[in-house]
Amino acid sequence: EMDVAELEDSERGEHEHFLAKEIAEQPRAISQALRGRIEERFATVHLGGLNMDVREARAYRRVTVLGCGSAWFAGELGAQMIEDLARMPARAESASEFRYRNPVVEPDTLYVAVSQSGETADTLAAVQELQRKGGRVIGVVNVVGSTIARQVDGGIYLHAGPERSVASTKSFTSTLVAFALLAVHLGRMRDLSPADGRRVLDALAALPSQVQDVLDTERETGTVAAVAAELATRESVLYIGRRHGWAVAREGAQKLKEVSYVHAEAYAAAELKHGPLALVGPELPTVAVVPDDDLFDKNASTLAEIRARRGPIVAVGHRDVPNAGRTLVVPRSEPELDPVLLSVPLQLLAYHAAVALGRDVDRPRNLAKSVTVE
Ligand code: G6P
Repeated sequence: EMDVAELEDSERGEHEHFLAKEIAEQPRAISQALRGRIEERFATVHLGGLNMDVREARAYRRVTVLGCGSAWFAGELGAQMIEDLARMPARAESASEFRYRNPVVEPDTLYVAVSQSGETADTLAAVQELQRKGGRVIGVVNVVGSTIARQVDGGIYLHAGPERSVASTKSFTSTLVAFALLAVHLGRMRDLSPADGRRVLDALAALPSQVQDVLDTERETGTVAAVAAELATRESVLYIGRRHGWAVAREGAQKLKEVSYVHAEAYAAAELKHGPLALVGPELPTVAVVPDDDLFDKNASTLAEIRARRGPIVAVGHRDVPNAGRTLVVPRSEPELDPVLLSVPLQLLAYHAAVALGRDVDRPRNLAKSVTVE
C-alpha cells in the first residue's frame, strides 16, 4: 500500500509541486471548460446546467457576482465581460462582505456565486441569504456535487479537474473561460452580434494553445524564473493595472503574497497618484499589467512617473512596454480574454519566487485550500 506522501508523489508526476502541475494543466483545463458548449450555428453557447429558459434569462437586467479570494478576483473579470458583451450592468463583490451587509436583493438581478471547492463558508452563506430573500443564484463551481453546487439553482461546472495546491491557478483561468461563455450566452440573446459572438468564441478556441505557448516559452527561456529570483529579494512589490489589467494585478499580487510571503499590494494604476506613489523608489519594484489596448499610452505614462522616481518595473503585455526594465510578453487574444494569458506569467512569477525562498509552495502557512469556517 502507498502512504499519503507516496500517493502525492505519484499524482504530481514529473512536477515538483502541485502548483507547477496545475499551472501546466491550464491548456487542458480550458479545453475541458469549453467542451461541448459551443454552438457554431448561432455563434453562441449551450449551458445546459443553467436550468434557465430564454424568457427568464432575458428578464434579468443586472448581474452581481460573489466569491472569496481568487474566486472574487475572477468574478471581477467575469463581471467586466458580462458588462462588455451582454451590456448588462454587472459587478463583483466579496461574498463575505456581501453577507454582512443587509443586501438589497432584486428579482431582476442574476446572482452568480463563484467557488472552486464549492465549500467556502462565506460564499455558501451569501447564497443562502440570497435565496432566503428570493434571489436567483447560479454557481460557477469546480467540484461536482459540492455544497454550493447543490445549493444553487443552476450553474456552470468548470471541469478543471482536482486542484490540490492551496493557491488556485487552473480554477482561476477556467473561471474566466466560464464567464466568457456566460457573457456570450447572455449577450447573444440580447444585442451581441453574431460576428462579435464568433470573435469571442474563436478567441476561446485558440486559448489552450496560446497558454501552452506561454508555458513553453518559459520552459525554454526561464525569463520569469529569473525575474522571480530578483523580486524574491525585495520586501514588497506593487502591482498595477487599469480596468481588467487591475483585476489581473489583484490576482497576481494575491498569488505572490500567499505563496512567497513577499508583501504585495495591487493598485488601480490611476490611483497611484492618490497615495502609493509616495512609496515608489529604487526599493519598491512594480509589476505592471499593460496589454496593447486603448489604455496603452495611459499606462505608459504611469510607468514614466514610476521611472522618474527610479522604481524598477517589470511589465506583462503584448510588446515591449516603454520604461519597463523587462516585459514578459504573452500572445494577444481578444481584449475580453487577454486576462487569461496575462495571468499566466504572474502565476509563474509567484511560483518561482516561492521556490527561490524555499517556501512550502503547496501549503502556505496559515492558509487552507477551502475555508469552511466563518
Ligand atoms: C481560500 C483559498 C483561495 C481561494 C479561496 C476561495 O482562501 O486559499 O485560493 O481562492 O479560498 O475558495 P473557493 O473554493 O471558494 O474558490
